[in-house]
Amino acid sequence: MNAFDTAAPPVDAGQRWNAQDYAIDAGFVPVLGGAVARLLDARSGERVLDLGCGDGVLSTELALTGARITGVDASPELVIASRARGLDAQVMDGHALTFDGEFDAVFSNAALHWMREPDRVLAGVRRALKPGGRFVAEFGGQGNVATIVGAIQAARVAHGHGESPFAWYFPTADTYSDRLRQHGFHVQFAELIERPTPLPTGIEGWLRVFASPFLDDLPPGAAARVREGAAALLSELPRDASGQPLADYVRLRVLARRR
Ligand code: BEZ
Repeated sequence: MNAFDTAAPPVDAGQRWNAQDYAIDAGFVPVLGGAVARLLDARSGERVLDLGCGDGVLSTELALTGARITGVDASPELVIASRARGLDAQVMDGHALTFDGEFDAVFSNAALHWMREPDRVLAGVRRALKPGGRFVAEFGGQGNVATIVGAIQAARVAHGHGESPFAWYFPTADTYSDRLRQHGFHVQFAELIERPTPLPTGIEGWLRVFASPFLDDLPPGAAARVREGAAALLSELPRDASGQPLADYVRLRVLARRR
């Protein structure tokens, strides 16, 4: 037991997932996980924990290397979708990982920003790794989707609801590196990367899947009006060559080793 081991209850970000909506409106999330998967460089026979495996699309690709992947996700709906792909997946809160010295690597793509008590997460990641094991992750960094969050908050205010207190965990590279060191990791790489991200189903699709933590205090009709207001405010987002709106994604990519 160390200073970071606590037994606080799970932290619910207020997000409910539907695997079908996720595949349609957020199918780009695992597709864009290629860079962090290459950083992981999984090897045949290695045991890898995929923390926040979602619907298992990227985990299934990792498994093609011959590594043995275990997926965990807080969403029962997404774990069912992962298992349907043949993945060894279980429902587990990333704040309360139960593994002990079992994994050569812990991997995470686009999940850690939902886990708003990072010290509990890192304590569990360290415990899950064998000594010398690596932690390879990519998630939202400081400034991520700031334009979209600003529009949702502005639409809430315009409709008389005031701003939501909800915030994802989007740290700087320095802040997260300090935390990693405090938890007994050697940081090999930590960088913020701007990655304007095309939204295949438009800003409406993104808001449909991801905006609910900002809206779940409102009745359905009021939430829909705020979503429409935010979409209107975001109608002038820059677009890529094929006309898809670009979201202002900023990734924090890290590679660290358990000391
Ligand atoms: C992300 O991958 O950075 C992200 C996705 C949905 C909501 C917030 C952030």
